[in-house]
Amino acid sequence: MKTYIWTLPTRIFHWLLAISFALAFILGGEEDFLRLHIALGSFAGVLVLFRIIQGFNGPLYARFRDFPVSVKALTLFFTNMKMSKSEHPGHNPMASVIMLSILLVALISAISGILLSASEGTGIFGITLSVSYKETFEELHDVVVHLMLILVVIHLTGILADTVLHYAQGTLFSMFTGYKNIKAENASLTPAQKVFSIFWILIPLLTFFYIMLYQPVPKGDKEKTEEVKEKGESDD
Ligand code: HEM
Ligand code: HEM
Repeated sequence: MKTYIWTLPTRIFHWLLAISFALAFILGGEEDFLRLHIALGSFAGVLVLFRIIQGFNGPLYARFRDFPVSVKALTLFFTNMKMSKSEHPGHNPMASVIMLSILLVALISAISGILLSASEGTGIFGITLSVSYKETFEELHDVVVHLMLILVVIHLTGILADTVLHYAQGTLFSMFTGYKNIKAENASLTPAQKVFSIFWILIPLLTFFYIMLYQPVPKGDKEKTEEVKEKGESDD
């Protein structure tokens, strides 16, 4: 018995977040790709902001009220890991905690990045802060993005464990196909949720291209050193 759990916008969101987070992380330390890093990080941040809004009025299983995060649900989950198949058609209690943490930490990653670039004197989205905050936001950005990496590793370990324990349910493939092999109510989108989904994808994309094409970005240390060198030569 197949049940439709993850609607198309949720799946598109998932893979766009996974790709943009991974690329932003890899490019974080690369000065030559700072603009792309900032564009990808901001893209991920806006994407997550829309997912959080969707959590309050989205389809079945994607709504936060369908995330079983009570102490009772968590205790039951850990004392009976092999629980009956249709107990949690959407996220199980542990997955729910991790998903909520990923959303929150991804948002803070992007916000701390915005504050960092603002304190480097080049305000993304028009925000500019005193340069004296630079070290604080650098530290914060570094800590939060690594926390996000840890959560992703826990997420992948959870999927692996679930695949070993309940292979027949098909959780791993559900983020590709939308379906799990369980008996439950099918998820569906209302017309308003479909319209929302268009903006959910469009606005992060517009943010990405806006930053790539128009937004000034902070200068990397290499660029700053070259500028000082050039200034020194022209003074001579
Ligand atoms: C940077 C990498 C990743 C991030 C940030 C991430 C994040 C997330 C988030 C936020 C959700 C919740 C979706 C929602 O409720 O809207 C989720 C669910 C899910 N992810 Fe990922 N993910 C990543 C990589 C992966 C990979 C590589 C796989 C597959 C191998 C995967 C498989 C899944 C599955 C199957 C679910 C649904 C789990 C369930 O039914 O409880 N994820 N992920
Ligand atoms: C999911 C989102 C993001 C991830 C995973 C991420 C990840 C990283 C990583 C791993 C670094 C390198 C840290 C280090 O070298 O210690 C970094 C640096 C940085 N990030 Fe992000 N970041 C994200 C979003 C953003 C955003 C949205 C902005 C700005 C709007 C931003 C601006 C910066 C800046 C200015 C640096 C310092 C680069 C340098 O001076 O070399 N980041 N980020």
